[in-house]
Amino acid sequence: MKKLISISISIFILSVSQLKADEGMWIPLFLKKYNIEAMQKKGFKLTAEDIYSVNKASMKDAVMIFGGGCTAELISDRGLILTNHHCGYYSIQSHSSLENDYLRNGFWAMSDKEELVNEGLKVTFLVRMEDVTSKVLNGISENTDDYKREKIIENNIRLIEEDAQKGNSYKIKVKSFFYGNQYFLFVQKVYKDIRLVGAPPSSIGKFGGDTDNWMWPRHTGDFSLFRIYVDKNNEPAEYSEDNVPYKPKKHFPVSIKGVKKNDFTMVFGYPGRTQEYLTSYAVDMIKNKINPKKIEVRQNIIDIMSADMEKDPGVRIKYSAKYAGVSNAWKKWIGENRGLEILDAVAKKEATEKQLTDWINEDKDRIAKYGNLLTDYKNIYKDYTPYKLAQEYFYEAIWRMESVKFSSKMASFIKKEDVKKDDIESIKKYAKEFFKNYNLTTDKKLFKTLFRLYYENAGDKFQPEVMNIFTTFNHFKIDKEIVVEKYAKLYFDNTFFLNEEKFNDFIEKYSYGSEDTQKVKDTPGYNFFYDFVNVYYSKIIPFTEKYKTKIDKKNRLYIRALMESKPNKVFYPDANSTLRIAYGKVDTYEPRDGVEYQYFTTLDGVIEKDNPEIYDYDVPDRLKELYYKKDYGKYGEDGKMHICFIASNHTTGGNSGSPVINGNGELIGVNFDRNWEGTMSDIMYNPDQCRNISLDIRYVLFIIDKFAGDKRLVDEMTVVE
Ligand code: ARG
Ligand code: GLU
Repeated sequence: MKKLISISISIFILSVSQLKADEGMWIPLFLKKYNIEAMQKKGFKLTAEDIYSVNKASMKDAVMIFGGGCTAELISDRGLILTNHHCGYYSIQSHSSLENDYLRNGFWAMSDKEELVNEGLKVTFLVRMEDVTSKVLNGISENTDDYKREKIIENNIRLIEEDAQKGNSYKIKVKSFFYGNQYFLFVQKVYKDIRLVGAPPSSIGKFGGDTDNWMWPRHTGDFSLFRIYVDKNNEPAEYSEDNVPYKPKKHFPVSIKGVKKNDFTMVFGYPGRTQEYLTSYAVDMIKNKINPKKIEVRQNIIDIMSADMEKDPGVRIKYSAKYAGVSNAWKKWIGENRGLEILDAVAKKEATEKQLTDWINEDKDRIAKYGNLLTDYKNIYKDYTPYKLAQEYFYEAIWRMESVKFSSKMASFIKKEDVKKDDIESIKKYAKEFFKNYNLTTDKKLFKTLFRLYYENAGDKFQPEVMNIFTTFNHFKIDKEIVVEKYAKLYFDNTFFLNEEKFNDFIEKYSYGSEDTQKVKDTPGYNFFYDFVNVYYSKIIPFTEKYKTKIDKKNRLYIRALMESKPNKVFYPDANSTLRIAYGKVDTYEPRDGVEYQYFTTLDGVIEKDNPEIYDYDVPDRLKELYYKKDYGKYGEDGKMHICFIASNHTTGGNSGSPVINGNGELIGVNFDRNWEGTMSDIMYNPDQCRNISLDIRYVLFIIDKFAGDKRLVDEMTVVE
């Protein structure tokens, strides 16, 4: 009988852990301790050291942060790296013009010489990481007050970073995990000469555009290729003609054997931010108070931009990157809210809190430590919400006015006591970039709409002086629309620097004198910006900061209490742009009652969606030709060209471009998105619905080899057949 019970208990534990197993973004340093067994059970054939080691070449030496927010991986011993098309987008766009539109037509360097230099682009590798919790918390006890605690931590971190920096040029950073319950030191190596090697046309790399974005089934060939260049000693260097391709310790072999349901997959990359341990109060605020407003503002921006882009191909180039950014989060928030609603996330969080409260109340010491925790949260969030909302309106409405961004540059320019030649050069450079992607007509429309939205929604306390015009005109019963119209005219007619010619004229003749400064100060653009910034810094930020500090402190205790109450559970920390591993399996899912989604898509779907009338669905002729000839070479499977697949790896923004790796440690895909039904996984993961979307590596090779004919690139890879 006893045996039976223990068997059934272990079956229970097994099924619980199976259910939850795919949730989590794990720390490479702790794989051996927490995860490797589970990974091996799922089909991973290598060891924890093969993934992360400081003693030998391991996978971590082939994974990097790409630019500011994506991941990329090495796929040859000549520094060739693979990431998403949307991650390389900015670089591709910056080399594009109406005559040479690499966004529309794609770009392929047929030799090293043709590879394009990208100023400012860098990639960052992890050299090693170390758990420094005890060093950071050294000198702190249960009774240390908050102020002292913060000072001690700051100081300890500084000492650790200085020590790690001795005798090297690495990038050093200590980061907090679990809201200050754990700390890690990161030693990183940064490479700065990164060249564009190849990108498919947007009709492949961005196929389906924002319509298909966040959606499964998906047919986007979302990849681009770059190369790391180094000096003669194989070390990072600024761009130089003499630089040579980087010879890495490790690159991923590429498997073209294909992907089957239930295959093990792991995603190794840099997830940016998740908030899995929020309380019900926070989830309620995000879901019911903040997200709906942000969605509304962005909907307005999207309508304005897309109408103008539709009308004019020039505007399309200028605004494509901006539009993609605005639309991306907009659509994610919509999915996130739906997912949270379906999951009944607030109620689930409340249940967790109830459990925790019961646990706290079982014991005097716990009551002393955690007694007020949950009631405090409730009050803090109630007070915090209006400020948070105002802050979001500042970012989403005011800061999205392009003129305001430029005014902010002008404001800091004229603020300088002694303007140097460098300052002039730098603002000239900024202006050149700004105007390259600026359409005054579009910005005017944005301005009017966003101005009104802020006025109507941000809250009475947070209105700057300029909003008084509404009250004044209201008095005369003049329509709001007309007020906005009139003000916008005044604003744009009299802010001279929003005109490229006038700006250039001004800056060429800039005489370092007060007259010039005054000229800027007299513009409505400058004053508008100034008014809003004043409100922001005096009436919004001090309060949001105050509440955030309170919440952070609570969170530190809350998560500690959670951990103490579940001593057998292994917790994973929220994503914080550090290297993580997610693992799971290739899997189908049921988005709605009666519907099951396959785990892969093929080129057939691209042809089904083909529509020359719509930019995002205009399949290139060359691709159609290959399709009708079924000319897939060794990359096809049973006469089909596979394009994307889904799996149950827990990923988020930042994981774009991450390598998707099979049980043998070979590259089978590139992560680029999540399914819409699963976007709430940043706040609450649902194993039945959450899938990451990857590009099948065979489609990448097919496009490079057959579509673009850049065979040299395939030849330098290690292809496993
Ligand atoms: N949703 C993906 C991510 O979060 C892809 C975004 C880029 N694509 C686009 N159509 N906007 O970054
Ligand atoms: N596209 C996202 C990125 O740029 C990845 C999708 C996600 O959020 O999971 O990182």
